[in-house]
Amino acid sequence: MRMYDVIAKKRDGKHLTEEEIQFFIEGYTDGSVPDYQASALAMAIYFQDMNDDERAALTMAMVHSGDTIDLSDIDGIKVDKHSTGGVGDTTTLCLAPLVASVDVPVAKMSGRGLGHTGGTIDKLESVPGFHVEISSDEFVNLVNKNKLAVIGQTGNLTPADKKLYGLRDVTATVNSIPLIASSIMSKKIASGADAIVLDVKTGAGAFMKSKEEAEELAKAMVSIGNNVGRQTMAVISDMSQPLGRAIGNALEVREAIDTLNGRGPEDLTELTLTLGSQMVVLGGKAETLDEARNMLEENIQNGNAIKKLKEFLSAQGGDASVVDQPDALPQAAHKFELEAKESGYVENMVADEIGHAAMMLGAGRQTKESEIDLAVGIVLNKKVGDYVEKGESILTIHANQTDVDEIKEKLYNNISINSSEVQAPQLVHQLISQ
Ligand code: URA
Ligand code: CA
Repeated sequence: MRMYDVIAKKRDGKHLTEEEIQFFIEGYTDGSVPDYQASALAMAIYFQDMNDDERAALTMAMVHSGDTIDLSDIDGIKVDKHSTGGVGDTTTLCLAPLVASVDVPVAKMSGRGLGHTGGTIDKLESVPGFHVEISSDEFVNLVNKNKLAVIGQTGNLTPADKKLYGLRDVTATVNSIPLIASSIMSKKIASGADAIVLDVKTGAGAFMKSKEEAEELAKAMVSIGNNVGRQTMAVISDMSQPLGRAIGNALEVREAIDTLNGRGPEDLTELTLTLGSQMVVLGGKAETLDEARNMLEENIQNGNAIKKLKEFLSAQGGDASVVDQPDALPQAAHKFELEAKESGYVENMVADEIGHAAMMLGAGRQTKESEIDLAVGIVLNKKVGDYVEKGESILTIHANQTDVDEIKEKLYNNISINSSEVQAPQLVHQLISQ
């Protein structure tokens, strides 16, 4: 087989066979296919698209380009959740213990945050003592015992995706549905998921800015999952403003504790229940989404969800007393209020820019090597649609620095207030299951 012919075939709009796709991915991983041929094929795919069979084949070829995690020693259906990335997205911290509390096993492999979106591991590490450096045997044992454990990303997972993503980044081929969908799905499948729930974000803070694009990506991923034997469902949710109220590591842990106690922000609670219901259905613990939702709501009310969070934190060395005394979590030295310059309705809080402001405070990494400050961040006192009086606080800045003028200016520039009433954005746009 010649790479030249594979490129020409796709350039001419024909469908590639599984063998041709494997030939490309294996060759690109081992270096026998050079970057210039891989970029030509990526551009051909960008213009000519791929059908369902090609997308499935590309996903599985990337899965098999490196190690795969074997979770077969864990009892039950392992359901993983993936979010396409957002600002102040505290859902994993809420979902994992909640879903585990109804006996759906959550074997979570997580990463650290980069840029303005936070990583689940960083957030959890704000609980004193908590660590994810556990052996894979310990990981499996903990999930069997408690239904929940989190481990750091290990091994050589989907090297083809890593290499191809880097190449796409510099050849203007990131924004291609078949390439994005196979990239995301290959990572979930390689890390051992039997079933997958996807939270595809749309809006300013999201990768997919429009609802139409988000829907197309969600449908592409759901059909890949179902075509390769992993039941998959998706939610399209709003990321035009940050989710919940807290943005920042320890602040989000506190927000998750509130949510599992039934006192969380409305949007975060709703998204947690929506995604959680899909996980419970795919995990085989409920027949319908409504039944699943009732089970989850009950476990928030009866305290089982918060009990599961404590059990999980202590099992991985964390001081679970912070759940009852959240003041023991890292706290910033200073608080500053962002006061409204006029009265009116909050019209817009640009999610990614507010995420950047939190990063400037030290809550996020500028580069992979940067140290982060777990205590700092932003808490929104108002959200889009809320009325604010001139001089009232829109948000509170939690800082370990005394000069926050530049950050305040950035926030003012990205929050608009309108004199007439504003509708809060719809949180869940669509559920996709086929
Ligand atoms: N995220 C991924 O993991 N892959 C893509 O291609 C785009 C976003
Ligand atoms: Ca949040």
